[in-house]
Amino acid sequence: MDPGRPVVRLRVWDLPTRVFHWGLAIALVAQFASAWNGAMEWHFRGGYCVLALVMFRVVWGFIGGHWSRFVTFAYAPRSIVLYLRGRAAPGHLVGHTPLGSLSVFALIVVVCLQVVSGLFSDDEIAASGPLARMVSNASVALATGWHAVWGQWILLTLVILHLAAVAYYVRVRRQELIWPMVSGDKHVPESSLPASRDDGGSRVMALLVFVACALTAAWVASLRA
Ligand code: HEM
Ligand code: HEM
Repeated sequence: MDPGRPVVRLRVWDLPTRVFHWGLAIALVAQFASAWNGAMEWHFRGGYCVLALVMFRVVWGFIGGHWSRFVTFAYAPRSIVLYLRGRAAPGHLVGHTPLGSLSVFALIVVVCLQVVSGLFSDDEIAASGPLARMVSNASVALATGWHAVWGQWILLTLVILHLAAVAYYVRVRRQELIWPMVSGDKHVPESSLPASRDDGGSRVMALLVFVACALTAAWVASLRA
C-alpha cells in the first residue's frame, strides 16, 4: 500500500461470513479427530453441522455482503495472470484475491463433496450414513471410497495449503489477513470501493437462512434408520 495515501476502514467480511469461517474451521478439526478416533456418533453430529454450514455459505454466496458474493470473486483467467504479474486492479486486492479465490472455491467444493459422500458412506461395521440405504451397493462403495480415501486427503491437503498461503501472505508479504477475518474490517486506500452490508437487517436475514439450513440438515439426519 502507498504509505502517502490516506487509508480508511472498510467492512469486508460480514459477521455471517466470519462465523461461517471459524465455525467451519472448528467443525473440520472435529470431523478429522472424530473419524480418526472412531467416535462415529460425534462424527455424524459434526457432519450435520458442516452440512448446515456449507449450505448456508452457498446461499450466502448469492445474497451475502458484497465481498462474500461469488460474483465478486469469480475472476476471469486474465485477472489471475495480471495478479501474478503484480498488475491487479485495486478492487481485486481487497476481498479474496484472484489467486486466493481459487483456493476458496476449491475448499468449498471439496468440503461439499466430503459431506455428500459421507451421507452415502458405510464402513460395513456399524457406521452408515443416513442416505446409504437408499442407493445401490456400488454407489455406497464409490461414496465410501471417495470419503474415506481420496476425499479426506484432498481436503486435508487443501486445508494445509490454505494455512501455508495465509502464513506466507501474513509473514512474508506483510498483508493484513487474519484480523479482518475476526473483526470484519480491512484498511484500504481511500477510494470508492463498496463495503459489505453488515447491519441488523442483513444479520437477521443470515440467521433465518442458517435456521432453514440447520432444519434441512436435521431432516437429513432423521433419515438414518
Ligand atoms: C480447517 C481449517 C480451515 C478451513 C476449512 C478454512 C476455510 C476457509 C474458507 C472456505 C475461506 C473463504 C471464506 C469465505 O469467503 O467464506 C477462508 C478464508 C480465510 N481463512 Fe480460512 N480456513 C481454515 C482455517 C483458517 C485459519 C486457522 C486461519 C488463520 C490463522 C484462516 C485464515 C483465513 C483467512 C485470513 C481467510 C481470508 C483469505 C482472503 O482474504 O482471501 N483460516 N478459509
Ligand atoms: C467435511 C466433513 C467430513 C470430514 C472431514 C470427514 C472425514 C472422515 C474421515 C477422515 C473418515 C475416514 C476415517 C478412517 O480413516 O477410517 C470418515 C469416515 C466416515 N464418515 Fe466422514 N467426514 C465428514 C463428514 C461426514 C458426514 C456428513 C457423514 C454422514 C452423515 C460422514 C460419515 C462417515 C462414515 C459413515 C464414515 C466411515 C467410512 C469408512 O471408514 O469406511 N462423514 N470421515
